[in-house]
Amino acid sequence: MKLLVCGGAGFIGSNFVRQRVLENGDEVVVYDKLTYAGREENLEGTGAKLIVAGIEDRETMLAAVSDGIDAVVNFAAETHVDRSIQEPDAFVKTHALGTYSVVEACRQTGVPLVQISTDEVYGSIEEGSFTEESPLEGNSPYSATKAGGDMLVQSYFTTFGTDVKICRGSNSYGPYQYPEKLIPLMILNALRGDKLPVYGDGLNVRNWLFVEDFARGISAVLEGGKAGEVYNVGGPSEATNIEVVKRIVELVPGADESLITYVEDRPGHDRRYSLSAAKLKREIGWEAQVQFDEGIERTVAWYLDRKDWWEPLIDGDYRAYYERQYGARLA
Ligand code: NAD
Ligand code: TYD
Repeated sequence: MKLLVCGGAGFIGSNFVRQRVLENGDEVVVYDKLTYAGREENLEGTGAKLIVAGIEDRETMLAAVSDGIDAVVNFAAETHVDRSIQEPDAFVKTHALGTYSVVEACRQTGVPLVQISTDEVYGSIEEGSFTEESPLEGNSPYSATKAGGDMLVQSYFTTFGTDVKICRGSNSYGPYQYPEKLIPLMILNALRGDKLPVYGDGLNVRNWLFVEDFARGISAVLEGGKAGEVYNVGGPSEATNIEVVKRIVELVPGADESLITYVEDRPGHDRRYSLSAAKLKREIGWEAQVQFDEGIERTVAWYLDRKDWWEPLIDGDYRAYYERQYGARLA
């Protein structure tokens, strides 16, 4: 199969590309703007061809999709909630105009699309789990614009019969994740003896999904999903943020709990995410393989081993972002 993977140089996209090349023998073309979160190094060992362009560039997108592609998988997005609060602009552009450009190219060429989305489009849930029928209630500029992208993609099935499927994953973690997100940020801070900034009371709950499981769930939908359908790829483990941070402290050599610092909460902070993957299991047979205990050990081990990967990242843009986000909170 020849796949066009938009956003394939980011965290989940690059793990998906690695799996498809190494386990399925696919030919992969990655289409990525290489924002601060996208890196060619993430594609090491995959041999994937790379087109460096924005998904919103309609001519380049149409040309890429027209080049003998069997299916498009679209990961390209701005993905950090805190950045969406600081500067929503790129979120609106990429998720609205960018997603439009991708789905429009798929409509024109007849190439099927798998749109990658998030449980955050359903909002926050105190009890029970979201299903594919839950109403959309994005609460941050990130989740609201992702929800908009999903609805546009869905409308192409209803209106034009375009072959689209949507995958909504829960919070993912694993190798190659940019260190702005909770788990890699805490691992790197713990390793460097920096404070561990926990928002609010630390009792917000996230539903954790190891990245290789998410990638396999996406393959299951690509190969076995029905056009026009949404599939939730829910993680096997729920934990409060403070439980996650304490586990990381136990696993990182030299770290201790005195580094944990409670800081001012994120505005509009969703309390709990919980996503049911029952439909994906029932209809296609996917199940998560990696429980949190195993996944977090593998993730910490990867960051301990791959200083060469993260060290060049933590200056420049990251430093400036970190100062904006945490400077006053940690002062
Ligand atoms: P990431 O931030 O690591 O990577 C995003 C990639 O998209 C980067 O390579 C970036 O360069 C590229 N990109 C951004 N804007 C672009 C544009 N306009 N044109 C072309 N490329 C562009 O993100 P991730 O964590 O790998 O997330 C990938 C997808 O999965 C996103 O759609 C996200 O909403 C979804 N998702 C993420 C999580 C999670 O926990 N990280 C969970 C569920 C769903
Ligand atoms: P994050 O990794 O940003 O993912 P999302 O907001 O998309 O779920 O955050 C996960 C949880 O961790 C969320 O409840 C916010 C919290 N958090 C902190 O407490 N401190 C931090 O420095 C970060 C980045 C997140």
